[in-house]
Amino acid sequence: MNLAIEVQISKYQGGTLYIYMGGPEHIYAMQHVRRMRGGSQSHLLRASDSHFYICKFQNNPQDIRILVNEYLATHLAALLGLPVPEVAIIDVPEWLIQNSPELKIDIGGGLLRPCASGPQFASRYVADPHSTAIFDYLPGSILKQIANINDFPQVLAFDKWTGNADGRQAVFAKEPNQRRYKAWFIDQGYCFNAGEWDFPDSPLRGVFGRIAVYEHVTSWTAFEPTLSRIEAITEDAISSIASEIPPEWFRHDFSALSRLMATLHQRRLAVRNLITGFRKSTRNPFPNWTDSELVRPIQPTTKPHGGNK
Ligand SMILES: Nc1ncnc2c1ncn2[C@@H]1O[C@H](COP(=O)(O)OP(=O)(O)OP(=O)(O)O)[C@@H](O)[C@H]1O
Ligand SMILES: [Mg+2]
Repeated sequence: MNLAIEVQISKYQGGTLYIYMGGPEHIYAMQHVRRMRGGSQSHLLRASDSHFYICKFQNNPQDIRILVNEYLATHLAALLGLPVPEVAIIDVPEWLIQNSPELKIDIGGGLLRPCASGPQFASRYVADPHSTAIFDYLPGSILKQIANINDFPQVLAFDKWTGNADGRQAVFAKEPNQRRYKAWFIDQGYCFNAGEWDFPDSPLRGVFGRIAVYEHVTSWTAFEPTLSRIEAITEDAISSIASEIPPEWFRHDFSALSRLMATLHQRRLAVRNLITGFRKSTRNPFPNWTDSELVRPIQPTTKPHGGNK
């Protein structure tokens, strides 16, 4: 990993020492492809590494902090072993903004502003956009054709941990030589409650819209290994990812970022209760889970997870 030289240090009362290490060497944007649907007004770009990326900009209409959320939460999900896209920091040069008339943010009232240049968030397109069909939604009848349907309860544990205030979003890709779809979990922008970073938990938040994906859950085992990995995650694992985030994405508010990291670390032990809250909700998402034991005690024997990112 090539680290940039810039190092910034911030202390906050009684917590983690945050050191901005600059992160891995950035890729840069070379070509605008098209605008995407959705509230953050993202764009598909081709980058210097020849891959395609969905890019979310610092001046998106949701909140600049969704870039932090995407970067930190997607890396954490990858660390837990969940199927998420590769994510990166992409430098968008001013010349590309100037020469791409569509690289604009609609700020309402018919007004358009150029997308910001500089470091932006990039989520690598989960497959070759030329050869592979990618779908945002699958009809209910096809849900059974998802090869990794067992990942839905796993990502539920993750969304409860990170307080995802949105519904769980996925894209479904079918490679030309495959019979079944693979679900990739995208859009971590509303983890930590978007720009608020305040975790107002609620049973139906962070869940996938079609609860049929949870039908196979019959016990706590369905949330493993993700659940135990969350419970065993270390503060170092969280702060090592956070140290790669450009400080302008959180407006140089190092203490807010440090509080976010500390809260995340504390919340790892609340995930079972949060899943139980969803289990007992009116949606009855796990009809085949008949076990009367609602919260299983935490097993203290689990080894810490997250030493090597
Ligand atoms: N890594 C990816 N690979 C393929 N497609 C992606 C990827 N990331 C995002 N997309 C596509 O871009 C669209 C917008 O992405 P995303 O949902 O993250 O942004 P958003 O602005 O929050 O959208 P919304 O408000 O609709 O949730 C998605 O609906 C999906 O089609
Ligand atoms: Mg979305």
